[in-house]
Amino acid sequence: MKVLVTGAQGFIGRYLCAHLLACGHEVVGLGRSPETEGFTHHVGWAGRQVAAPLPRAMQPLFRSSAYRYRALDLTDAEALADSLDGAGFEVIYHLAGALRDSPIDQLVRSNIVASQLLFDAAAGVPVPPRIVFGSSGSVTGALPEALLPVRADRAQAVQPVDPYAVTKRAAEDLAVVAQRQHDLQIVTGRIFAVMGPGQEERHLCGHLARQFAERRAGLSEAEIAVGPLTVTRDFVDVRDVAAQLALLGETAAPPDLCNIASGRETPTAEVFRTLKALTGDVSELAPSGPGRRLELGRSVADISALAGLGFAPAYDLERSLSDLLDWYLVEVAEAAG
Ligand SMILES: NC(=O)c1ccc[n+]([C@@H]2O[C@H](COP(=O)([O-])OP(=O)(O)OC[C@H]3O[C@@H](n4cnc5c(N)ncnc54)[C@H](OP(=O)(O)O)[C@@H]3O)[C@@H](O)[C@H]2O)c1
Repeated sequence: MKVLVTGAQGFIGRYLCAHLLACGHEVVGLGRSPETEGFTHHVGWAGRQVAAPLPRAMQPLFRSSAYRYRALDLTDAEALADSLDGAGFEVIYHLAGALRDSPIDQLVRSNIVASQLLFDAAAGVPVPPRIVFGSSGSVTGALPEALLPVRADRAQAVQPVDPYAVTKRAAEDLAVVAQRQHDLQIVTGRIFAVMGPGQEERHLCGHLARQFAERRAGLSEAEIAVGPLTVTRDFVDVRDVAAQLALLGETAAPPDLCNIASGRETPTAEVFRTLKALTGDVSELAPSGPGRRLELGRSVADISALAGLGFAPAYDLERSLSDLLDWYLVEVAEAAG
């Protein structure tokens, strides 16, 4: 199958491309940045910012002739239409977007405007591809405990917690309109808290793993800077996310909305404890730092829709965090020189 992945050099995009290539698909990756060998973001190491390197095992896949990359801003409607015209994509995996804490103009441009333009461009193709859209579990916001694990349900009242969630919710609504107006097939997957080697340090696991890895490597004796860890999250490994997204692109009759998660509710304090144990850190460490505002209390997803398609998570918290630590200690350390 020939497929397009937007946000291909981002964290999830890289893993999805690698998964699709390993399954024998022809993959065109699209993103704004010029082609690079790593991810599009940087991570910290020993007080410096380092271009986040691609895990070594994935690198050969991106050198295969089944992979091509095109640098393009999705808000360039003309160039986007040209890229789809006659290309024969059967599925577009839409992962390009701006993350939480990005400035509002970027959130609106990359999450709302870019999504609408992609839907318009796909509708202009004689045989429109299926679109698998990566939304966010944060669109629902805080729900009464009785509604947990949260189902993916458009009829449920939502209270997005921040501007990022508002823009992802708006893109979901635009997908519904595009489906109706143009008879497009758009499958929306609400992705929960992703973890794994290569992740941005804006996310909790990356933020903590780098600090524990630096202590382990003898580069730091500092306290671990993080706010109070009193909430829960549905952490899901990025390799499981890639498998779930691929399944939504390949299965004959996918749901039009579902959760992409592990279905496990994990206290954020467990991430801290697990990293401390994995690094053999015996000091009296406790989280120390200011908390985030607008925090959700509990978060856990109902994954019955994807379980019904045969998906079961292959990675648990300990394995994901262990791989993330190794990535810092070996690959980031080497990239930092
Ligand atoms: N990571 C998570 O925990 C998580 C959870 C829920 C949902 N999601 C969603 O999943 C998707 C992927 O997340 P991620 O963690 O992989 O993010 P990421 O690492 O920031 O990757 C997103 C990619 O999108 C590209 N991009 C942004 N705006 C673009 C535009 N206008 N045109 C073309 N490319 C553009 C960026 O490339 P450039 O830097 O080159 O612009 C970047 O590489 C996002 O939509 C995010 O909202 C992620």
